Amino acid sequence: MDIRHVIDFNDITPEQWDALCALGGEIKASPRDFERACEHKIMATLFYEPSTRTQLSFQTAMMRLGGKVMGFADPSSSSVSKGETLRDTVKIISAYSDVTVIRNPVEGAAYAASLYSRVPIINAGDGGHLHPTQTMTDMFTIQQNFGRYQGLTIGLCGDLLNGRTVHSLVRALSRYEGNTFYFISTAELKMPSYVTELLRKTNNTLYEVETLDECISRLDILYMTRIQRERFKTAEDYAKQSGIYILTAEKMKQAKSDMIILHPLPKVDEIDYDVDDDPRARYFEQAENGMYIRMALIHEVCINNSRIAMPGAYPAPSPAYCRNPRCISNHEKYLPPMIKETDGHHFCAYCDHKLKV
Ligand code: CP
Repeated sequence: MDIRHVIDFNDITPEQWDALCALGGEIKASPRDFERACEHKIMATLFYEPSTRTQLSFQTAMMRLGGKVMGFADPSSSSVSKGETLRDTVKIISAYSDVTVIRNPVEGAAYAASLYSRVPIINAGDGGHLHPTQTMTDMFTIQQNFGRYQGLTIGLCGDLLNGRTVHSLVRALSRYEGNTFYFISTAELKMPSYVTELLRKTNNTLYEVETLDECISRLDILYMTRIQRERFKTAEDYAKQSGIYILTAEKMKQAKSDMIILHPLPKVDEIDYDVDDDPRARYFEQAENGMYIRMALIHEVCINNSRIAMPGAYPAPSPAYCRNPRCISNHEKYLPPMIKETDGHHFCAYCDHKLKV
């Protein structure tokens, strides 16, 4: 598999994903067979935003493959706190490591990093945009539970506006057909249009509803998400949205006996504690699966030893070509305008927002 940067789950073809998923299954079954697979390789983890699962599962994944890990979990302990740009940090780190994993609160940061890195960049979450290795975790767990990505009824519930995990998961599942999606959210936290528009172009069915009661009995998978306090401008805005969706043991009585509950975690109050003991709650298994599928990804990325060639120069910056204030192009002013075209529409390559060109 020739896997380079992984910014979006869809940077990996469906065939590559099938192979990666199969490798993840092999590793899960016999982890000791892989304990020297990445000997002499070094992975950098640059976490500009807090993380438990993603950071530690990446680190343990590399260690279980026999490789080494370096990086920071808190940018205040690095030269970022002195005002160093993302570009300079990434250029330096890519001289030290064989693969760099990056989490950043700004949308498009991982793509921006990939423009300046001579080693593969893996996006470990860029603001409210994408989280492809969480999607790998989710897709691997779905595969292990259902053995397929078709003919499923999937409910996604909570903060669909800012939830990068649901954006990535829907984009991944949109490559398959015959699924029914229920997007369950308040009007304020609806799925962004670039995700719904993408799904509506496929042979899948989409319903947008405001309550769990409208669909829970039909679901094969209920994907719960946290209302993310850190994505709201004010405490009042957060208070208006928190506590609306709470999955209780009582509500679970309406669900199918073989429905599974997934959650990217951390969870706060959106799932009652007693639901954790329900055999349909699979989120702890899901988090463990994240380590195995990240082992498979690191294994494949590190097999390719060659350094990535840098282009001679990028186009000159074009201030505010993207109107998304959360886009990295509006934070790191040296970044070139990067535009991608789909079906005659232009999108910002960093954050996927539609451009007025
Ligand atoms: N699911 C997830 O990204 O968890 P962390 O924020 O703990 O990494």
